[in-house]
Amino acid sequence: MSEFSRRRLLGGGALAAGGVALGWGASTVVGAPAAAAAPDTVPFHGDHQAGIATPPPAHTTFVGLDLRPGVDRDALIRLMRVWTDDAARLTAGRGALADTEPELAVVPSRLTVTIGFGPGVFAAAEREHRRPAWLAPLPPFGVDRLEARWSDGDVMLQVGSDDPVAVAHALRVLLKGARGTATVRWSQAGFRRARGSEPEGTTMRNLMGQVDGTVNPAPGSADFDSLVWVDDGSWLDGGTSIVIRRIRLHLDEWDELDRPGREIVMGRRLSDGAPLTGESEHDEPDFGAVGPGGITVIAPNSHIALARSLDQRERFHRRSYNYDDAPSGDAVSDSGLVFVSYQADPVRQFVPVQQRLSDADLFNTWSTPVGSAVFAIPAGCREGEYLGQALFQ
Ligand code: HEM
Repeated sequence: MSEFSRRRLLGGGALAAGGVALGWGASTVVGAPAAAAAPDTVPFHGDHQAGIATPPPAHTTFVGLDLRPGVDRDALIRLMRVWTDDAARLTAGRGALADTEPELAVVPSRLTVTIGFGPGVFAAAEREHRRPAWLAPLPPFGVDRLEARWSDGDVMLQVGSDDPVAVAHALRVLLKGARGTATVRWSQAGFRRARGSEPEGTTMRNLMGQVDGTVNPAPGSADFDSLVWVDDGSWLDGGTSIVIRRIRLHLDEWDELDRPGREIVMGRRLSDGAPLTGESEHDEPDFGAVGPGGITVIAPNSHIALARSLDQRERFHRRSYNYDDAPSGDAVSDSGLVFVSYQADPVRQFVPVQQRLSDADLFNTWSTPVGSAVFAIPAGCREGEYLGQALFQ
């Protein structure tokens, strides 16, 4: 498309090589000045896609796309080739091949691009037999008030960076590359605190002020690897799944709850995220400890008591983001969590926990899931390969 308009603009066919002949390629025109610092990059190529085990950047936007009718395996392969090439360049701080604003690419600020496949990809590519059994919408939960505008989709793009300009630019490039193949179904922008405003590794705070993400498998550990990466001999080996749940937080009602009440609901202290039975954030909660009144200090129906599984396999990697939309009507805010988890098998690992929370979590009074989507995330790729190649081959 942009090749076409570029040719039209210049009135000739001389631009066969994607603008490079005229010096429009990013590396020729906007190579970083000699004195500039090396761009802050996260490697694109590798065993796993970036953006999962890598440290969460300040901004991440998740986009769900629908495939256009008639898109087949060849069209999907073309899309994945283009996206892989775009992502490799952009994450390295270089303009994409058909980049109309390559100047925006030179500050990637830890840009990552992560791609996922919904059930529709397997149908379109005639690869149904390779669709993981768990790749389907999650079962309905009692707490759900799901809206189609935040749910499902055939393809998923996750674009993260510490710089929202880099996110916007990368998304525009990638979505332009998909123009003939897919349309945007939903887009959810999420944020955390600005990079550098807190020491690296500080657990994020959600918009209720809670320390959110304390109990999480440590990226790089054997525990993380076995919980997150698929390793069953299938085409998806080295990949994973993503569950994206848009959860609205009822901040106006939460305002009516006093601080001790808020801490009972979660089972943790607001000031530092310590469990109500501990002194600091990473202390092990003591779910059996009994207070003066003879009742447990951490309520059995608190969020952390119900989210904790005895079955070690019922765990996953959480990497959520805040959202803050424009309020409507009398509301002061429309805020919540783009809850994100990665796990090798969402049905085995995620669903039992979500079911327990849905059935009894005290926190349900102040939170409502309004969106839900599941995607398979293929493994990473090496130079010369494209993402998802093992599925389509
Ligand atoms: C808006 C919705 C949610 C909020 C605000 C929230 C907040 C929190 C907070 C503050 C903690 C304690 C600190 C920590 O370990 O991170 C926590 C723990 C946890 N949450 Fe959530 N959460 C939400 C939804 C969910 C959902 C949907 C799930 C999964 C179905 C979930 C699973 C967990 C798990 C597994 C833990 C750790 C429990 C443990 O101590 O073993 N949360 N959450």
